[in-house]
Parts: sequence; structure tokens; C-alpha cells
Amino acid sequence: MKIRKAVIPAAGLGTRFLPATKAIPKEMVPIVDQPTLQYIVEEAAASGIEDILIITGRTKRAIEDHFDKSYELETELEKSGKLDYLSTLQKISNLANIHYVRQKEAKGLGHAIYCAKFFSENEPFAVLLGDDVVDSETPCLAQMIDQYNNCGTSVLGVQTVPDSETSKYGIISGDKVGDRLYRVHDMVEKPAPGTAPSNVAVLGRYIITPDIFRCLEETTPGAGGEIQLTDALKMLAQKEDMYAYDFIGRRYDVGSKQGYLEATVEFALKRPDLNQEFSNYLKRIVKTL
Ligand code: G1P
Repeated sequence: MKIRKAVIPAAGLGTRFLPATKAIPKEMVPIVDQPTLQYIVEEAAASGIEDILIITGRTKRAIEDHFDKSYELETELEKSGKLDYLSTLQKISNLANIHYVRQKEAKGLGHAIYCAKFFSENEPFAVLLGDDVVDSETPCLAQMIDQYNNCGTSVLGVQTVPDSETSKYGIISGDKVGDRLYRVHDMVEKPAPGTAPSNVAVLGRYIITPDIFRCLEETTPGAGGEIQLTDALKMLAQKEDMYAYDFIGRRYDVGSKQGYLEATVEFALKRPDLNQEFSNYLKRIVKTL
């Protein structure tokens, strides 16, 4: 079945970015001049996704405004001849059909995904996590969909992480069955340091079959007292085949301050309108360190 739908959980409190996220959703914090969530929505749209469900929560209204049409602003930009800005804004509201549902309580990623049960309509769907921004030639999700088209079952987006970082992620154990492809046998969410079954971490991209909802119904609170998607996926892997794909691309953990700063600097350097002046500035400042 074709992957047409994507779910983007965006209900988290953004505690790691307080006080910036006191009144602004963390997904709206910009990398250069574009909210992080827009990079994720653009990746989904560029991968052929037609419908996106964003799981929001209280205090997240700015997200809906961002992806909506902005009549007043567009009229003003048109009147003043600022047509570049106008077309930038128009592109945002035409990226995909975006739907919203509110997760009323912060009970974990698994609980957030369960809010998408009605949206999936029994079709396999993609999940993209907003803290993982991936810069790649072929959009990360398009690579995942390619893999799904070959194996016809759930595929998790993974990359290898150092030992010191395994306790931050969902970690898989499995067999390598092809170039960059693993067959998943088991998974563990945020294993205690030194106990991870491998260094292969799930990094914010998933294609999931709809049986996940039955698994989520049976999932009890796990790591951090939350309903974990990893625990439900572990259950799903026992019922049907599951693969993990080591996607190609530079992934930024924009949920951490270091990852956010790296993304900001590297994305700015890639921008033709900023590159020259900004790289000259960086060269100057590095000499003073
Ligand atoms: C979530 C998932 C985890 C995954 C990670 C990727 O954790 O629970 O399995 O490896 O995203 O970024 P979080 O970072 O939300 O704690």
C-alpha cells in the first residue's frame, strides 16, 4: 500500500529549551529563519506525503497559524511589491493537507501516536519526530518509503551512535540482512549505560503498519513512566516482520542545545544569501578562540 500519510508529534513541553519555549512551541523555534517544524513538513511533502496529522497540545496554536494562509500579510506583501516573501509564505500553506489533533495529557510518544488511530484508517503511515532534522540529498523519509516499498512492512530509520549516547535513544537488536538494512528482533527504550544490545539507534523516522494501534492498547507505561512507542514496536516486531534502515544523511538533534547550534551554523553556511559574510565572520571568530 502506498504511504500517503504522516504523523508528526508536536505536543511536548520543550523543557530543554526553556525559557524560549515558555510562550512559543518548541517546534516553532527557527533554524536560521524557518521554524524547525517546517523543515520536517517539507521533508514529508518532498517524500510524496499528501496528508499530515500534527499532534499538538495546549499553547501550540502558533503551529496552526504558521501552516495556514495569511490573508492580511499576503495582501500587504503584494501591495508593497515584496513578491519573494509573498511566494515563500504561499508555499508554506500549500505544502500538504495538514490536520491537527490535541493530545490532552503528556503521557508519552506512544500515547501521542495512538491519537492518530482515526487518521490512519488502517493504512501504514510515516512518523517524523521534530527533534530530528535530517539534511540529505534524497529526503530521509523518501529513503524510508523506498525501503517500505521493497519489504512491505514496518521500517525504522536508524543510524549508529557512540556507546556514550545509546541511553538517549530507542536501540534495536537485529541481523544485518542487506546494504544498510537490518531485520529487527528486539528493541529497548533508553537502555541504562553499558546495557544496550547494539549501537543502532532509532532516530526519529518510522514507517509503521496499522497493527501498532492494537499493540499500543496493550502497552503499559515504560521508561520515564510514559507510554513508549518503542515498547509497542517491540511487541509489533514479535507479531510481524520489521526492518530498520540506516538512512543516508546528516542528522541533527535539534532538541539539544549543541545539536541546535550545529544545525543553525551549518544551515546558514548552506544558504547562498548568507554563506559569504557568515563564513568570513566564523573564520574571524575561530581565530580568537
Ligand atoms: C524518542 C523515542 C526514541 C528515539 C528518539 C529519537 O525519544 O522515544 O526511541 O530514539 O526519540 O530522537 P525522545 O528523544 O523524545 O526522548
